[in-house]
Amino acid sequence: MENIKGKVVVITGASSGLGEATARMLSAQGATVVLGARRIERLQKLVDELTSSGGKALALVTDVTDHNRVKSLVDAAVQKYGRIDVMINNAGLMPHSPLERLKIDDWNRTIDVNIKGVLYGIAAALPHMKQQKAGHIINVSSVAGHKVTPNGAVYCATKHAVRALSEGLRGEVKPYNIRATIISPGAVATELPNSITEADVSAGVHKFYADFAIPADSFARAVVFAMSQPDDVDINEILFRPTSQVL
Ligand SMILES: NC(=O)c1ccc[n+]([C@@H]2O[C@H](COP(=O)([O-])OP(=O)(O)OC[C@H]3O[C@@H](n4cnc5c(N)ncnc54)[C@H](OP(=O)(O)O)[C@@H]3O)[C@@H](O)[C@H]2O)c1
Repeated sequence: MENIKGKVVVITGASSGLGEATARMLSAQGATVVLGARRIERLQKLVDELTSSGGKALALVTDVTDHNRVKSLVDAAVQKYGRIDVMINNAGLMPHSPLERLKIDDWNRTIDVNIKGVLYGIAAALPHMKQQKAGHIINVSSVAGHKVTPNGAVYCATKHAVRALSEGLRGEVKPYNIRATIISPGAVATELPNSITEADVSAGVHKFYADFAIPADSFARAVVFAMSQPDDVDINEILFRPTSQVL
């Protein structure tokens, strides 16, 4: 719990899955959470739950493909709570399909959310963190950022990109005392497989998740581990899988 209490943490994609579980765990440990996603009613329900337990939380409707909305989310955190300690670029989707099916809309959405959304999060947080001379940017990659699988070419490309961006960022922000962490989960039980638009691929991935996925608090614990290190320790990457997952 050390180094969590009192921190102001912005989380994108907090309306379900990993982001939601992380908001709950960090709030329970005394962090202030500022939550962004498109489904504001789900975010607001979570904020109500956290604040009624004594936590500090704020929700803003945020589409991470819109740079201005991501900036507004981070600026709102700074305006209301005075600073941003941690930016968790978590929003993402995984519409797997074989390349030959030419799902170009899916490709574009995946690139826009999984890569540009992360870049916009960095762009929104970095000026504040530079000024503070402190901060921590946590980007969510995946096992798919380490391995490439059939049907997953575009998703894997975006998750490789997240790792490249994060490592580039890490090297650049030393003068500002900013930490950069990549978290790369294996199969975790969330709504992620619902973003698959091809019925046959969806069935296969849902079965894989039903057989292997672990609860979302596995990810939240990894966030807590990275955040709770002393300020001079930068956890650069955490790669974890369900114990039963081979891939
Ligand atoms: N679950 C896994 O097995 C797994 C493994 C490795 C990596 N990941 C990564 O973990 C991250 C979180 O995914 P999850 O597993 O928690 O899936 P999830 O339950 O489907 O959550 C995805 C989140 O992203 C948000 N989102 C999607 N498009 C968005 C947009 N345009 N603007 C803002 N928010 C958007 C969704 O909110 P709205 O729809 O309300 O906007 C939702 O809150 C993703 O980056 C994913 O690639 C997950």
